[in-house]
Amino acid sequence: MSAHEFPNWHLESLTAHSGVGYDPVYGAVSTPVYQTVTYQHPGSELGPYDYSRTENPTRHATQEAINRLEKGAGTLLYSSGMAALTVLVQTLQQGDHVLITEDAYGGTYRIMVDLFSKFGVSSSMVNTRDLNQVEDHLGPRTRLVIVETPSNPLLRISPLAELAELVHAHHAELAVDNTFMTAVRQRPLEMGADYSVYSATKYLAGHNDVLAGAIVCKAPEQYRRLNDLTNATGSVPGPWDAWLLLRGLKTLAIRMDRQENNARALAQFLSTHDRVRSVYYPELAEPSVKAVHMEQASGYGAMLSFLLKDPDTHIALMDRLKVILPAVSLGGVESLITHPYNETHRELPEPMRRKLGIIPGLMRLSVGIEHIDDLLNDLSDGLRD
Ligand SMILES: Cc1ncc(COP(=O)(O)O)c(C=O)c1O
Repeated sequence: MSAHEFPNWHLESLTAHSGVGYDPVYGAVSTPVYQTVTYQHPGSELGPYDYSRTENPTRHATQEAINRLEKGAGTLLYSSGMAALTVLVQTLQQGDHVLITEDAYGGTYRIMVDLFSKFGVSSSMVNTRDLNQVEDHLGPRTRLVIVETPSNPLLRISPLAELAELVHAHHAELAVDNTFMTAVRQRPLEMGADYSVYSATKYLAGHNDVLAGAIVCKAPEQYRRLNDLTNATGSVPGPWDAWLLLRGLKTLAIRMDRQENNARALAQFLSTHDRVRSVYYPELAEPSVKAVHMEQASGYGAMLSFLLKDPDTHIALMDRLKVILPAVSLGGVESLITHPYNETHRELPEPMRRKLGIIPGLMRLSVGIEHIDDLLNDLSDGLRD
């Protein structure tokens, strides 16, 4: 089934029907887990599948479900978000250059500095909110720009349509890490991006139980190029992980609604708390920034960060919380709190962390689906004197 068979369906209906219609034998409503590596074909004739590194029916159904949400030319699944980003950069050649949002996820920085630099692919971290800075760094060998908006962990907003225009004028491609917003809130391809990249581990799967990644491609030739490379290198998920992701997708829209409502209430609560210096959440951003976000997104998402007045408070906070779990990762049904300075962003050199505002008092909250009163009471208790 292609995206175009569901032209008028709302995202809630598309997500609920993820994987429906993929069992040709029994009509199973839930796509089966095709736990097989190889496929018998009738005699010398080849069948639709031949080897599971190349394609597997469960993985195929999951890819199609994600592809429908963004109306892509094709979507590929990976064993993690980092595997997806790695394959994307592997499409480049020695001498090429990549630009990345300066406060992007630390792992993105790490593969560029620790891995791709050894193969002659260079990178620069830039403030992608500022088009002049981006233009200054776009060189003749810049082939790829990787943007996170809202960024991780400071929820900074970069203007997608303007970036796409600028990047294309320099004959490069734009990839947007859409992990935080997901297709139910932001569709980068519609804003001109070439790729929408995911840590599907997060909201798409949604239950803190599966690692996966995805890339949605705008054009068929981009999809073919990535598909060939993925088949050659093999960083694909197994059928069970693809199935867990497919099951998670069915509730993506309602999970996001609930998580976002909870996040809005927590952001308001924190913004008036006397132990909190500032809250980073798109709804609370200054009006011009909020306007840019709402031009390209249909909601604020469920990630927020806040800065404690006294950085040492973070220890008591993390020790006292009971509903909100101290853990890395994000986007699942359970609320999680992270200390980016020591956890998700520790790969960044200390001066860079400080320059970006990733300082010891900064906390990142991934808001889950719990009852809002329990979350408010938990935070209130955690922040008490
Ligand atoms: C925005 C973002 N992109 C990519 C990744 C990497 O994804 P994974 O952990 O699935 O490899 C993460 C992980 O936290 C992330 O937060």
